[in-house]
Amino acid sequence: MKMRPVYGLAGALFCFGLTGAGPARVADPHTLGQYRARRIELRKSLSDGLTILFGRSEQDEDLRTGFFQESNFFYLTGWQEPGAILLLAPLPEESSDPAYAAKSKLPREIFFLPERNPEQEKLTGRKLGPRDENVRERSGFESVMPAEKFEAELRRMLETYARVYTVADSPAAARLKQLAPLRTVGNASTAIAKLRMNKSPEELALIQRAIDVTLDAHRAAWQRAAPGLYEYQVAATMTGIFAEAGCERTAYAPIVGAGPDSVYLHYSRNSRRMDAGEVLLMDVGAECAGYAADITRTIPVNGKFSPRQREIYEIVLGAQNAAISAVKPGMTLSKTAPNTLYKVAFDYINSHGKDLHGERLGKYFTHGIGHHVGLDVHDASDPAAPLEPGMVITIEPGIYIPEENLGVRIEDMVLVTEHGGKVLSAALPREPGEIEKSTGHGASGTAPN
Ligand code: GLY
Ligand code: MN
Ligand code: MN
Repeated sequence: MKMRPVYGLAGALFCFGLTGAGPARVADPHTLGQYRARRIELRKSLSDGLTILFGRSEQDEDLRTGFFQESNFFYLTGWQEPGAILLLAPLPEESSDPAYAAKSKLPREIFFLPERNPEQEKLTGRKLGPRDENVRERSGFESVMPAEKFEAELRRMLETYARVYTVADSPAAARLKQLAPLRTVGNASTAIAKLRMNKSPEELALIQRAIDVTLDAHRAAWQRAAPGLYEYQVAATMTGIFAEAGCERTAYAPIVGAGPDSVYLHYSRNSRRMDAGEVLLMDVGAECAGYAADITRTIPVNGKFSPRQREIYEIVLGAQNAAISAVKPGMTLSKTAPNTLYKVAFDYINSHGKDLHGERLGKYFTHGIGHHVGLDVHDASDPAAPLEPGMVITIEPGIYIPEENLGVRIEDMVLVTEHGGKVLSAALPREPGEIEKSTGHGASGTAPN
């Protein structure tokens, strides 16, 4: 479902191939090279100014979650320690202008790191400081400076560059407006999103791992669900599997809602006891090595859909199949743009079945058709951009009828390829008969009236 964007909230625990333990770890040069290549691409697209991003600081740390890096910062650096700052300068165009000579002498990238703080390290462990041996090799930056030099360095660079880019509406933007009051502060979000929307083969492998662990959790939940169990117990089974698999957290608050709770899109209290005759909607996904999975299935609590539940389920499945078949480059996720996958699903739902009053069902499909997924569950994206090969999206139609205590959503993750959509979560059944067989009740579930 299309929820409020969660820019920067979902984190990115590190996936870069570090070997050894503690801050002496040496990063795999191939992995550091990927981050550097992303920065080069960004510098090409923001070619008329400096780009500055602030990583999360120790003060941003939440006792509930511990430190995790802001996802744009992680995407460009792979850095997992607090207080870092990234400064990128564009590649100057060669010319005989004296300004070129000045620009070409400045570093193209500077990575600022806080000085080590022994008191803080007693609490949160050893960090890499700007004066540590081999800090350049470990960070992948040729120029590493103490964070306290950032303001002076920025002032020096601003003598040459008139424009500064950062992520709009972030604390960084406010700080830069203060530090560079006479400069235009542009928004780097769309340029970064354009890069983040296209997943590399390495990212696709990490996404697939998050999906595979998530599918295991759904299978286990189907086995466990039964009348009398609480929604939180099903959630516990699922999140336990994420933790056992070494995944760092859930990609979003698990949504496990039975019967009347199945109709709430953002239901996360997960507190009710489920009963025979209800459906159980589970929208639960892992975050593994920084990458999110976002998968929903709806099953019958006692192992057998009622005829009405099955009717509504099959309409949602038909809409999902229609939208998945329509995935190809050039289509969009928007509700209103031409070539919208949303309309494919909406039209299907609105032309099949009726509510208890004989009315069409389109009005019960109350959210968008899907979103990009990556480091964030609602990943950075340019809403206007049509789909391209290499993008990973969800396709997640749903019908929610409060009057019938009946909500059904089916959500899968799909890779856009040149030839169409490839369902990355296809290993988890979607057909109602297969779902019934895969529950803990097997084929012996009893149909409610
Ligand atoms: N679980 C969040 C979403 O489906 O968008
Ligand atoms: Mn989703
Ligand atoms: Mn979801």
